[in-house]
Amino acid sequence: MHNPFSLEGKIILVTGASSGIGRGIAAACADMGARLVITGRNETRLDETFQSLSGTGHTVIAADLSTQEGIDKIANNTPTLNGCAFCAGIAKLSQVKFITRDILEEIVNINEISPILLTAQLLKKKKFLKQSSLIYIASLSGVYKSKPGEGMYAASKGAISGFVKDAALELAPQNIRVNAICPAFIQTEMTKMFDDMIWEVEHPEDIYPLKRLGTTSDIANGAIYLLSDASSWVTGINLLIDGGYCIA
Ligand SMILES: NC(=O)c1ccc[n+]([C@@H]2O[C@H](COP(=O)([O-])OP(=O)(O)OC[C@H]3O[C@@H](n4cnc5c(N)ncnc54)[C@H](OP(=O)(O)O)[C@@H]3O)[C@@H](O)[C@H]2O)c1
Repeated sequence: MHNPFSLEGKIILVTGASSGIGRGIAAACADMGARLVITGRNETRLDETFQSLSGTGHTVIAADLSTQEGIDKIANNTPTLNGCAFCAGIAKLSQVKFITRDILEEIVNINEISPILLTAQLLKKKKFLKQSSLIYIASLSGVYKSKPGEGMYAASKGAISGFVKDAALELAPQNIRVNAICPAFIQTEMTKMFDDMIWEVEHPEDIYPLKRLGTTSDIANGAIYLLSDASSWVTGINLLIDGGYCIA
């Protein structure tokens, strides 16, 4: 039986694949039959992801997305793609009055500038086949909600939520789809710094109407939908995956 969610025969690039959500998306895409091109900076953790992938034909490109050299390295070495999941990102908190240019530029550089410039390079080098699907991990913080201290992060993620709408329009004539996923809190390396804040609530799962915390698999399942032909009439959206948090 035809499975519209299958990624069989597709080649998918995943940034931020050395950890957390990117690693979860890479593993889930491989389980659904895709060949992966995985990238990140930390070669040891990247290799751990690589070793864990099911199937064959996967490749690794270690690169730092904060530099133009790193962006060029990925764009030059990646094969022709059917999809890309832009997951690399960082989070830092600061009250608005303590925001500095250095830290703001660091966050915006990784979360906003690097995925946009990598997209531009991949398009210029004609690395996306027709009917490709591009997904960007934005955040609940941005267009949906925010918390005190998240201003810089929310600004960088809100920018991506806006970017996908224009890119979706521009690329629709080539049948290339562009969408964002906006996850609520998912426990990863990144969110360890928020642990004290989150876990001061006795039952953190009660924050969510669905009464459990989100996992990287919840986000990976959304990614499979958007990367597969199951979503072939979906473009320009910000897919909220939040256990009902925003309606509570
Ligand atoms: N966890 C959440 O609650 C949550 C919620 C909403 C959105 N998000 C977004 O989801 C994405 C993944 O986050 P995560 O929670 O999975 O965090 P994570 O476990 O810390 O993973 C972050 C990934 O980004 C990569 N990365 C960071 N800086 C990089 C750079 N300069 N060059 C190349 N790669 C770089 C890291 O690779 P190396 O370590 O190898 O450099 C790592 O693979 C991020 O965009 C984040 O903003 C997360």
